[in-house]
Amino acid sequence: MCGIVGYVGNETGAKDIILGGLKSLEYRGYDSAGIALICKGKIEVRKKVGEISNLEKIVGDPSFDSNIGIGHTRWATHGVPSDINAHPHCNSDETLSIVHNGIIENYMEIKEQLVREHDITFKSDTDSEVIAHLLGVYFDECGDLQDAVARATKRIRGTYTIVAMSSREPDKIIGVRKDTPLVAGLGKGCNFLASDIPAFLKYSGQVYFIENGELVVVTKDDIRIFDTERNEIHRDVFHVTWDVDAAEKGGYEHFMLKEIHEQPAGIEETLTRRLDDDGLVNLDGINMTKEDISKFNKIYIVACGTAYHAGLVGKYAIEKMAKITVEVDVASEFRYRDPLVDEKTLFIAISQSGETQDTLQALRLARSKGARVLSVVNVIGSSVARESDDVFYTWAGPEIAVASTKAYTTQLVCMYLIALYMAKAKGTIEDAYYRMIINELKGIPEKLNMVFSQEKEIEKIAEQFHRQNEMFFIGRGVDSAVSLEGSLKLKEISYINSFAIAAGELKHGTIALVENGTVFFALATQDGLAEKMGSNIEEIKARGAYVIAVAKEGSRLIADLADNCIFIPKCADEVTPLLTVVPLQMFAYYVAKFRGCNIDKPKNLAKSVTVE
Ligand code: G6P
Repeated sequence: MCGIVGYVGNETGAKDIILGGLKSLEYRGYDSAGIALICKGKIEVRKKVGEISNLEKIVGDPSFDSNIGIGHTRWATHGVPSDINAHPHCNSDETLSIVHNGIIENYMEIKEQLVREHDITFKSDTDSEVIAHLLGVYFDECGDLQDAVARATKRIRGTYTIVAMSSREPDKIIGVRKDTPLVAGLGKGCNFLASDIPAFLKYSGQVYFIENGELVVVTKDDIRIFDTERNEIHRDVFHVTWDVDAAEKGGYEHFMLKEIHEQPAGIEETLTRRLDDDGLVNLDGINMTKEDISKFNKIYIVACGTAYHAGLVGKYAIEKMAKITVEVDVASEFRYRDPLVDEKTLFIAISQSGETQDTLQALRLARSKGARVLSVVNVIGSSVARESDDVFYTWAGPEIAVASTKAYTTQLVCMYLIALYMAKAKGTIEDAYYRMIINELKGIPEKLNMVFSQEKEIEKIAEQFHRQNEMFFIGRGVDSAVSLEGSLKLKEISYINSFAIAAGELKHGTIALVENGTVFFALATQDGLAEKMGSNIEEIKARGAYVIAVAKEGSRLIADLADNCIFIPKCADEVTPLLTVVPLQMFAYYVAKFRGCNIDKPKNLAKSVTVE
């Protein structure tokens, strides 16, 4: 949500650098964009509702350029998407400009005070505009931008990343954060602030992660980080190992398709990092001893969206292998009930971005109740990673498309490895079975290439059904968890109303909706449950449904019953989700393409949901 880019350099050129940075953050989701520059000593703002291309149309004037500026892509929370509500916002005399990601919870009270005591007129309906005016008032009082920002952070409540600049101190941009991301990039003769690394990766792979409550002052020559008491903090530079190509499309039409095809590599990398030469799972860097593991009497897996669906598969794996009760919760629910968490609880947070607000808050709640926190995260140095006792990184590489694909499959790999490790530590797993699962996991990248070989057929099925208004996904056992993910993929990028349900539950309501031509995806990859799924397929077909099945190669029963059957290579039932989900991802992709949807940036959705 909301992307922020700030730049200070030697020469003009800030406009294009900031626009380029905003484009690299498009994946976060936005509905308007804007940029503010200090041009000849004055702040100039241009902002426009809609895509960044709309903004580009109004910034062509060559005199609108500078060596310093801030830019923003807005995902509306307070006030509709519009030119006026777009960021940056300025104070009354336009000597100061800000961009903001997050929500200022007490903005109403501050706004009323600013109107009452300073006669300030507000232009927008946003909560963010209060920050600009508040900073303006404080700056007038203290004459120092850094002090003004520090003071403002004591007055506002909520979540925020704010980047501010002033024409009265035109050599710097100042950033501050609480619960939403902010990184600083160290360039050559220029420096950056941004919501995420891709915004400046073209110019710098040297990064400082800014922590909650810290304030960062960026000039063209240096980056200085301060705590709330204005003490300077030393921070080690983090060197980014992935390159710009990883964050670009590399010949694919969309990031989503590229990321679907990157799954074998992501899975392989995640496995390689955690498997010893002798084929045993290593948790190097994770301080979970055998004693710790045998102490846990319950595991909570908490996450949102696709990561939550990965958690559901994790439950099957951990309960089956390590014999510990696992509860899987969506983070927004977990944090608002009174979960039974104590020192004997292992809390596993799963998050691609590591910045999802609900997941982060759930994690804090669990920690406050004494739980041990292990997180499964893709973005190194993100908030969830930093606040966990231990981190199990997924090595998916940067995921740009809003619809998550390779993050999901690498999260699944982590779930299996955690299950195996815990099972071995507890002695609940036979050696041969342990080795069999490891071998199965190792074989997945190659088997995925066999799934990819059916891409053309999947595209054809997608073409046949892309005008459908609704679709259903069913499955049993672990297939039922995967059906939720298949349905989510379809709904988020194609806007088709799709619904997933455990096949055994059909009879308890949903079957009432089946009529001639209703389309079902039936996931039937579990050997032990094939006959039961066969019966479910018969039941819906008898009522006129069209059934597209996903089954293991050689599964004649399912192939004969279904109207179409997509095959996954033979493998152990436990690891099928890693293969089954891929045709569903491809189906969603092609349906969305035939419908002409904005695949990488679906409407209303954001990649990183930093507000609750
Ligand atoms: C958003 C994204 C989803 C993602 C979910 C959780 O809804 O659009 O793709 O699964 O957030 O995000 P996280 O970064 O915590 O995995």
